[in-house]
Formats: sequence, structure tokens, C-alpha cells
Amino acid sequence: MLSHLLALAGIESVAIDLRRRREIEATHRAGILERDSVRMLIDTGVSDRVLRDGHEHKGIDLRFDGVSHRIDFQALVGASTWLYPQTDVFIDLVEARERDGGDIRFGVTDTQVLDITDARPGIRFADADGVGHEIRCRYLVGADGSRSLCRFEVPATERQQYFREYPFAWFGILAEAPKSAPELIYARSDRGFALISQRTPTLQRMYFQCAPTENVDDWSNDRIWHELQARIAGRDGYALHEGRVLEKSVLPFRSFVQEPIRYGNMLLVGDAAHTVPPTGAKGLNLALADVRVLAELLERAIVKNDTQALDHYTPRALARVWKAQNFSYWMTTMLHQLPDATDFDNRRQLGELEMVVTSESGSRYLAEAYTGWPTP
Ligand code: DHB
Repeated sequence: MLSHLLALAGIESVAIDLRRRREIEATHRAGILERDSVRMLIDTGVSDRVLRDGHEHKGIDLRFDGVSHRIDFQALVGASTWLYPQTDVFIDLVEARERDGGDIRFGVTDTQVLDITDARPGIRFADADGVGHEIRCRYLVGADGSRSLCRFEVPATERQQYFREYPFAWFGILAEAPKSAPELIYARSDRGFALISQRTPTLQRMYFQCAPTENVDDWSNDRIWHELQARIAGRDGYALHEGRVLEKSVLPFRSFVQEPIRYGNMLLVGDAAHTVPPTGAKGLNLALADVRVLAELLERAIVKNDTQALDHYTPRALARVWKAQNFSYWMTTMLHQLPDATDFDNRRQLGELEMVVTSESGSRYLAEAYTGWPTP
């Protein structure tokens, strides 16, 4: 997305990725786009496929004590989210860069970042055929994900890293089954959290809280469905449509922010700069929000020769990041069971959920944060 936006501003870029294109296309990730992420894909001319193949969701269900409560995003904040998997966003972006003559090199190895505090930083790598390259540039962007190496290019004395670990993880499945609900269900139960999501009319994505050490091989089809059904069961008799489980994996949970996210002529974006727990699906949306800010500032720096412009990157991007950190943490702690929770903790958690679904102010905060804070 950044190389696409820079190209629109007449700025040349080269993107390199360690993984191969097909490998990225086959990796399942989250599936919810904020309103402005959708607008960005459409308004900047990437693709309007999200409007045809994506599904508009005008709300979500919060389910607790065996009862569902709809949070109506349209009524509360006049916005929707779109169910459109991150892999499809990737496919659209790569096709747009190919269409527009962009330079993206997949499957590189042996990367080495060079001279980030010099006027001409660079990167050395071997391409997919093993041929060595060195590219020099004005600015180097570290968009190398949650296991970022670029973030460690900022000297230890100059950076601060904020962490939070959680004593649980998500067990994620992809199942061949019809949809169980028109929109997403976020369910709190005494057995732990469950999330009922979707992919296509015949393929569903669901998650349930598990131990970080959980082994997917210990979970048969039957055991998975029994656990999911138990977590969403209630007096309304609601039950999930079951089917063959095609994929299962354990997703780690953590909150992380590095500060600053600009150092010399290197800029960090997305998971390289910050990671959120998955509850609320903010990861990809935050990365796109970083890029929106960064493209504007790089254009000012490069095209308008405004050398101070990039000083604004860390404070502007991190203002949104910390709001999203709070939202993701809040959604997580409001819906998950802590291993050492007391009766008081459980009753308080139900009180919090009751507040959110019965108070317009409570619901509106959730709706506003979930659909994404407006970007100027
Ligand atoms: C999905 C993932 C999330 O983390 C979430 O909050 C909602 C949906 C998904 O993969 O569909």
C-alpha cells in the first residue's frame, strides 16, 4: 500500500519481501476491515473488489450469559466494517502494483540494512535466484512484521519497547460449513472466549481461547465443535453449524509498541512498530493507518523538500496506535477468562459487558473504535 501511495505521488520505491508471493497468499490472517481501510483501497484505485467479494457488516453481537446483544454500528456511528480477508487485500495490492509497473521482489534472502542515519541508507539482499543486490535510497521503511529486525536498528539507548503478555492464546479453525450467523459473534463464557467469524458462504473462521501451550494435534473435529458449542450455548438454544475442520492453529497474544518509530532515515510501520492482540482485528487496519500518515509525510519530505515533515511521524502514528492498543486490550480483557479469575472478577466482567450493551455511550465507544476512528 505504501509503494502504491508513493507511486501516486510520483515517488519511486522498491519493495522486498522474504516470503514468496504464493506463500503470503496462502497464509490465513484476520478478516475485518475498518471503514477507512476499505475507502483507502477504493479511493486510491487499488481495487473495488472489496465491494463485490467482501461483506458489509453493520454491527456485531456481544454474547454473554447465553444471550446475544447486537451492537448496531450504523445506528451508533453511521459506519460499517467489511469482512474481507487480509490475503485478499494482499492479492489486490500486488495486482495493482503489477498493473502500475511497481517494483516488488519476493523470496529474497540474506537481508542487511545499511547506514540508516546517513543521507543514503540502503539494503543488501540476495534475490530469489540467489543474486546479490545493494539498493541505496533516501528513506528505508521497515515493514518487516512482528519479528522485525529493522526495529533493532534503532540503538537500544534510543528506543523504548513496551510489552504486555497474556496468559492465553486463540485456537483458530477454518471449517467447511454454512454460516452460523449473519455477522460476527464475540462470546464470553465461563469456559473462555469464542469468536464466530466467516470467510465465504461455505467456509467459516472461528476461534476460541486456549492455553498458549495448546497443541493442535490434541484437538479432534469432535472435541473442537463440542468446545465451541459449549461456549456459545444459551437459553435461546442457539447452536453453530458444524462441518469438517480444514485448518487449525494457535495464535499468540501480545501487546507491543516501540518508540520512536522513526530513527534517522528509517521508518517502521505495522507490526514491526506495534503488535496488538487479535480481539477486535486492529492489526492490518493499524498498518494501513501508519501508511496513510507516512505516505503524506514522505511526499512532503521528498517532493516539497520539507525536511522537518518526518518529525511528525512518530507522534502522529503512535497517537492512533495507543488508542488501538487500549481498545484491543479492553476487548480482550472484557471477553477472556483469566486463569486465576475470582468470583468477583467474573461478576465485574459481566457488569462491564452489561454496561456496554445497555448504555448508548458504552456501545458507541465500541462501535466507534471497532469501525475505526475517522482519519482527517
Ligand atoms: C477475525 C479476526 C479477529 O481477530 C476479529 O476480531 C474478528 C474477525 C477473522 O479472522 O475473521
